[in-house]
Amino acid sequence: MDDSTAKLGFATRLVHSGEERHPFGSITTPVFDTASFVMPDFAAHSRAVRDMSGLPYYTRGYNPTVEALEGKLASIESAEAALAFSSGMGAITTTLLTLLRGGGHVVASDELFVATATWLAEDVGAFGGACTFVDFTDLAAVERAIRADTRALFFEELTNPTLQVLDLAKLVALGHARGVAVVVDNTFASPALLRPAEFGADLVVHSATKYLSGHGRVLAGTVAGRVEQLAEIREMRRRIGTGATPHNAAAVLDGMKTLQLRVERQCGSALHLAAVADAHPATGLVHYPGLPNHPGHALAARLTGGRFGGMFSFTLRRPERKSSVYDAFAVITRATSLGDVASLVDSFDSPDLLRVSVGIEDVADLTADLTAALDQAR
Ligand SMILES: Cc1ncc(COP(=O)(O)O)c(C=O)c1O
Repeated sequence: MDDSTAKLGFATRLVHSGEERHPFGSITTPVFDTASFVMPDFAAHSRAVRDMSGLPYYTRGYNPTVEALEGKLASIESAEAALAFSSGMGAITTTLLTLLRGGGHVVASDELFVATATWLAEDVGAFGGACTFVDFTDLAAVERAIRADTRALFFEELTNPTLQVLDLAKLVALGHARGVAVVVDNTFASPALLRPAEFGADLVVHSATKYLSGHGRVLAGTVAGRVEQLAEIREMRRRIGTGATPHNAAAVLDGMKTLQLRVERQCGSALHLAAVADAHPATGLVHYPGLPNHPGHALAARLTGGRFGGMFSFTLRRPERKSSVYDAFAVITRATSLGDVASLVDSFDSPDLLRVSVGIEDVADLTADLTAALDQAR
């Protein structure tokens, strides 16, 4: 963690951590849009080639704008260090390729972001690894799936897309009791609600495309954890070239400054909209941990201090009306992704499920739009 800012509050660290003063005193971190760095002399060159991930030499290994983002991330994740990647998938695959190197097994949650699940199911085996998927709400099933060669548990503690709430503290304890690293995808909650490192998680990954950047403009990903473990992942990132670009790192740095403001508003609006969806005759199940009838309500309240995030999904009682409902959204934008300032609605490979990522618009406009769309399926 950044020692100078460690004792400051979360919102203050979001604004200031990682941001250093550069020549001319710019109040934002400059974007070092450069592929390589001038070597002042042969001695500097020799130092740089020995530590290509730690010194300015070539941007695939090190870049000061990316380093600034990593400093801010480490501070707000309550982690020793952090790394920034080209995308959430870049962060996830680089982390797991490192952990599973030489052949190893991962136990993964059976509800994961689809690209993560597909990569684990279809590609990890080709690199000599293996993955078993189990229901992570069933701790005994997770324990049974751990083998002698298991190196990691991998899960989203708030799952995509049906918002299961997983017992982070118990999963960490289980993983550690069996000598297995606990890797948590915290994209849905964001560090504004929950910091898995504070519960003992070893590695915390994010699609920074989502809440961290917050404006739907860039793809980026992050991993936070202990210095020693991140050193190996950093080296893998340099070798395979999955690091964040300086320009995208700057966009995430800017976005993070308003993370808490955005997420607080999104949580309030999502609670209201999920209740509206729940009360509407067109919906079947509404998945939102803030609703008292959600199976993970009490656990989510404990994990996040009573804020339940900006994501909810719902099924329709009349699946044949799904396309009419989807087409009727006007303020809530029909687009994939999440965590944006704009509310987004997404459809899934399911006959009746739609997911809403709540933005920061006026909640009255969002309520009217959701109601009008659901009215298509009365
Ligand atoms: C929970 C979760 N993890 C990871 C990812 C992948 O992130 P990216 O699209 O930035 O590669 C996503 C993308 O939607 C996601 O929802």
